Amino acid sequence: MNTFEARPVSHIGGTLRVPGDKSFSHRAVMFGALASGRTEVTGFLPGADCLATLAAMQAMGVRTERRSADELTIDGVGLRGLSSPGSALDMGNSGTAMRLFAGLLAGQAFDSRLVGDESLSRRPMERVAVPLRRMGARIATHDGKPPLDIGGGQTLRGIDYAMPVASAQVKSAVLLAGLYAAGTTAVTEPAPSRDHTERMLAAFGQPVTRAGATASLQPAGHLHGTRIAVPGDLSSATFLILAALLARTGETVIENVGLNPSRTGVLEIFRLMGADIRIEATCEAEACEPIGRLRIRPTALQGVVIPPALVPLAIDEFPAVFVAAAAAGGDTIVTGATELRHKESDRIATMAAGLRALGIEVEETPDGARIRGGVIGSGTVESHGDHRVAMSFAAASARATGPITILDTANVATSFPGFVSLANRIGMSLRETGQ
Ligand code: S3P
Repeated sequence: MNTFEARPVSHIGGTLRVPGDKSFSHRAVMFGALASGRTEVTGFLPGADCLATLAAMQAMGVRTERRSADELTIDGVGLRGLSSPGSALDMGNSGTAMRLFAGLLAGQAFDSRLVGDESLSRRPMERVAVPLRRMGARIATHDGKPPLDIGGGQTLRGIDYAMPVASAQVKSAVLLAGLYAAGTTAVTEPAPSRDHTERMLAAFGQPVTRAGATASLQPAGHLHGTRIAVPGDLSSATFLILAALLARTGETVIENVGLNPSRTGVLEIFRLMGADIRIEATCEAEACEPIGRLRIRPTALQGVVIPPALVPLAIDEFPAVFVAAAAAGGDTIVTGATELRHKESDRIATMAAGLRALGIEVEETPDGARIRGGVIGSGTVESHGDHRVAMSFAAASARATGPITILDTANVATSFPGFVSLANRIGMSLRETGQ
């Protein structure tokens, strides 16, 4: 089992870039594969999750070429050009891959089966199966969980779907099935979730209309290949932002990071806590996404009541928010965050247990937690194979009184290859042991 040994440091600083955005990279591969013509992707995230998406498309007959670790060309086969993979498609640890593929495969002529690792096999899949069945898809889950068996050759029809939870994955699955459906497919969200699917489909020539909380599409009949420049992943940058805030001295600059407003909730939460984070030089990249540079200085953080409206806009960053709360003065209260229980681990339970092991008082509630800021001590924490939990506790070491041992860290490679060396480059003290 891989383990991190993270030691306290006092100075963190430097200028860096983080690997490409995971949500973007999945979509670039999927839409590029379904497009007519060639798609060129730069800044692709070569993490295990996105490589699972790439391997699945290759198994369905899509030719791709890796020009370097993060440069990729995809020769699209067109919306109806995928061929039967012949065996189950393995989504590894990736909920995004499984749920988006569920929508995409619902419209194909062939049967398919989606499987995943132990963590993914525990995650809820009826949330995508329900709306897709309403569109006419044939999908079986196993007690609501993977594997997913998807019947081919179905005739899909557009629906008007009101999602019970804010989920970009569910929204995207329905919109992707909508590419194969007769009529208009509309999805209404209870709160805004990341909108990369809407923006990137438009870049591939398939407009998505937004009216209030509803995103809808009328299938254009084809996508056309394009160039996608993937920005750095703000979700990955978050761990380094957190370490930079918890250090005593230094200044950290993170360049070329995606700042789509449906993703920047974490910056708002950190700023509510008093964080010194400046956003500089934003511009729009090729797929119409804002990009910028962040400048972070150490800050004495204050506990806050986190507005529930920010939860979907920071959904992947709560492990880091929990650590920031542990280092802050006073209490931080998280509510409206039940979704955290359905991520790569139950992130409310995993973070609460880990923080308690480091001497922090945490009261768990069904939809969140109350975290009493204090002194982060030394100890051993279980990440439960959750990449973001592991990296959040690594960042916690910047403020800890002694070393933190983090167990089960191999899945950091699903989203942030090179995390240990990048973290050490800016002054963290991390050592990875294991195979
Ligand atoms: C993602 C959506 C989010 C997020 C995940 C990536 C996406 O899930 O947690 O890491 O790329 O669409 P939900 O929107 O389903 O909460």
